Amino acid sequence: MEIDVFTLFPEWFQWFRDQRHVRNALAAGTSLRCVNFREHTRLSGGQVDDTPFGGGAGMVLRVDVIDSALRAHYGVDPVLLPEQRRVIALTPGGRPLEDKLVDELAAEPALTLLCGRYEGFDERIVEHFASDQISIGSYVLSGGELAAMVVCDTILRKLPGTLGHEDSAVEESFSPALGGNPEYPHYTRPAEYRGWRVPEVLLSGHHERIEAWRRERSSERGEERRGAAGR
Ligand code: 6GU
Repeated sequence: MEIDVFTLFPEWFQWFRDQRHVRNALAAGTSLRCVNFREHTRLSGGQVDDTPFGGGAGMVLRVDVIDSALRAHYGVDPVLLPEQRRVIALTPGGRPLEDKLVDELAAEPALTLLCGRYEGFDERIVEHFASDQISIGSYVLSGGELAAMVVCDTILRKLPGTLGHEDSAVEESFSPALGGNPEYPHYTRPAEYRGWRVPEVLLSGHHERIEAWRRERSSERGEERRGAAGR
């Protein structure tokens, strides 16, 4: 898997890259590259954004700057790029990031993530250069960088060699293995602490009963969560 992140803050990703599970993914052959689109502007003072036509607050990333950055990096007209790889614009109004979408993205050979700042992208960037718009929730971040890290984290942990235990990402919250429900509760030693006992079934060594208990807890949590979300 090859992931390219276009951002005004490539240094933010240094911290992300240094995390153990990310290092594991990189060692196992995934590439994570950052491109600073400020290096691709021909405007004076490294300008990458401008005031919105029609007025209003904030600044908008310019389409000509993003065009130059993508063209310089890939050597093709960026309108052709979505035919070669998924180009994802990170925007609060995009498709919500859910486990199913993560599975889809983890199966791709190459991804490009575009991080907006300020009020976001000139709409022509999204319309002509992007194949997808993704959001990580119904709230506004100051930029797409944290969202890009969330997207990368969720993808990388699905790739073989990222997590210690090969099954760790198979039976986890929201996976098909749990019918899309959150994960069941976990416990470890001590079996009793301040009078709080671990459920007896987990100490029983009875694998079928443990399995059944876990499915029930998982689907119970799914019900509660759907109730809390009002759906
Ligand atoms: Cl992808 N970007 C920004 N700026 N805010 C967000 C988001 C993305 N997802 C949720 N909020």
